[in-house]
Amino acid sequence: MNRRYRKTIIAGNWKMNKTPSEGKALIEEMKTMLSKTKWCEVVLCVPFTDIQAAVKAAKGSKIAIGAENMHFEKSGAFTGEISADMLKELGVKYVIIGHSERRQYFNETDETCNKKVKTALENGLRPILCVGESLAEREQDVTMEVIRKQVKVALQGVTVEEIKKVVIAYEPIWAIGTGKTATSEQAGEVCAKIRDCLRELYGARAARAITIQYGGSMNAKNAAELLAQPDVDGGLIGGASLKAPDFAAIVDAANQN
Ligand code: PGA
Repeated sequence: MNRRYRKTIIAGNWKMNKTPSEGKALIEEMKTMLSKTKWCEVVLCVPFTDIQAAVKAAKGSKIAIGAENMHFEKSGAFTGEISADMLKELGVKYVIIGHSERRQYFNETDETCNKKVKTALENGLRPILCVGESLAEREQDVTMEVIRKQVKVALQGVTVEEIKKVVIAYEPIWAIGTGKTATSEQAGEVCAKIRDCLRELYGARAARAITIQYGGSMNAKNAAELLAQPDVDGGLIGGASLKAPDFAAIVDAANQN
């Protein structure tokens, strides 16, 4: 973290878990534990069907609600899809774009991510753009080639003004839901190189203000060490965001001096 230049953001990603009533109960439990979030922003990205209940439950707290995906078109014949307008009207502030599960199971590409990032920004939603390499790519030593392409294509046409609103989440695919975390050095190294890439695209001033999260089996035990890396400005947390004490412990770690 480097709080002088950028915000620390701890975001949960509930994935396909929790009904509206279960989500409400979880947020209510979290609220009692998150009273002292001085330094970091807290976001919960929840299933579409939970958004309304989550926004209501989070009212009066520091928790902002996000979505896990959205369509890039404004409206039209896209059966089963959800638009930025629909999310905004419900009080959504953030939206995850290009999570590796969406890329893997739902054929999302860097090009669709680019359209979604632009639509989110045009509609005042903050995109959390996910990038990351597979195990095979890491072993073939092409991690940064893969990630640089993901970042550069997804941010095509995003202006220096707009980039301030974008959050990048570095999520090595081999660390997601596997219990296998990147070492803090691995996470710190890739996040620093993502910032180098952003510096090339947007200049030093803009690059140093961008929040870059790490995601992949971040938990109550390893969060402090990961967040101690200067270029790791927060976390995108799956499994551990489904348990209030674990998520609150990660937020605590982000609030340490
Ligand atoms: P995990 O998921 O924390 O369960 O590994 C992270 C993510 O997919 O965003």
